[in-house]
Amino acid sequence: MLKDTILVTGGAGFIGSNFILQWLQNVGTPVINLDLLTYAGNPLNLESAASHHDLVRGDICDAELVASLLLQHRPRAIVNFAAESHVDRSIVDPGAFIRTNVQGTFTLLQAARTYWSALDQPARTSFRFLHVSTDEVYGTLAPGDPAFSESTPFAPNSPYAASKASSDHLVRAYHHTYGLPTLTTNCSNNYGPFQFPEKLIPLMILNALELKPLPVYGTGQNVRDWLFVEDHCSAIRSVLQRGCVGETYNVGGNSERHNIDVVHAICDLVDQHSPNAAFGSRRQLIQFVPDRPGHDLRYAINANKISAELGWKPSVVFEEGLAATVRWYLDNMQWVESVRTGAYLDWIRQNYAERVSQ
Ligand code: NAD
Ligand code: TYD
Repeated sequence: MLKDTILVTGGAGFIGSNFILQWLQNVGTPVINLDLLTYAGNPLNLESAASHHDLVRGDICDAELVASLLLQHRPRAIVNFAAESHVDRSIVDPGAFIRTNVQGTFTLLQAARTYWSALDQPARTSFRFLHVSTDEVYGTLAPGDPAFSESTPFAPNSPYAASKASSDHLVRAYHHTYGLPTLTTNCSNNYGPFQFPEKLIPLMILNALELKPLPVYGTGQNVRDWLFVEDHCSAIRSVLQRGCVGETYNVGGNSERHNIDVVHAICDLVDQHSPNAAFGSRRQLIQFVPDRPGHDLRYAINANKISAELGWKPSVVFEEGLAATVRWYLDNMQWVESVRTGAYLDWIRQNYAERVSQ
């Protein structure tokens, strides 16, 4: 018999930790969290749930470890968040992305297949392997193009996107070839509590707070669709519960915004919550800096499938989610300090020292 346990990978990262917290509140069955605790993984994210789930420090590329966790805990599902996730880092060091995102997903799939094949029929029918992916696998859109749907051809442009596209293809192949009951979600840019401050929104919040330059790549006219992380987590739960095996589901926030407008909104929110009369508007901190190589112009998600088939829709309006996120960072400076380690400072120097004038 399968237990009610789920195995989450990468659950100490931004989305994974939000997912575990939401899962424990709404479902409450046991969670095993396999996380390598790279620079992006932080057990503090799960402090409030520390006694309610098991964190195993380990690598999804470690086939023996993954196999033994499956045999020991007999989970009814694997939810795979573990990844290298930052596009700029993938430009500097693509190898780490191929290792975790491609080799790691392959290792998980192999272990899942072995475990699943040995289950009895009812357990085989109910088991799920849910792979969390990104809209970046679809490439980039021009301003008037229709949004990405599940049938948009893959055209990844960054090493990060290419590594995620490879993993998505492996997941598809394991369903098609071996019948493994897989599900894949491709979502847009997440934002919210516990996001590592290398990504646009938390980086800009903290720089604005500390009156540091706000480095906007290129002209700031790139467009992203923003999805509040709790909405993403509820979408994953819907797909896990009711998704059709072998299918992929696009998840979006219905909130396309130009980067420059996002940065303006952050400046105004930080001014409102932490005014600095002597300095004036934080918008003065904006610097247009040399662009990211191969920078995708626009992402947009058509989420009709998940809405029509599973009844899921985003519930958070971007401006409200952004205001809540700014407040969360200002209220959680202890968490911020805990993640601004040497590795973080090295990255900031490496990516911005030559771009930004102080
Ligand atoms: P994150 O970088 O915040 O967290 C990744 C987690 O994976 C960390 O806890 C890290 O320690 C762990 N990890 C890394 N390598 C590992 C390995 N080899 N073995 C075990 N654990 C490992 O990422 P995130 O933003 O939470 O993203 C989670 C997933 O969602 C990723 O698969 C990402 O591609 C996808 N995604 C993210 C976004 C976004 O906007 N953040 C958007 C679309 C899709
Ligand atoms: P990011 O948060 O890195 O997510 P992604 O590249 O996965 O979309 O970046 C979001 C957008 O913000 C993207 O168009 C790049 C841009 N950006 C900046 O302009 N400046 C920055 O310092 C960062 C990190 C991102």
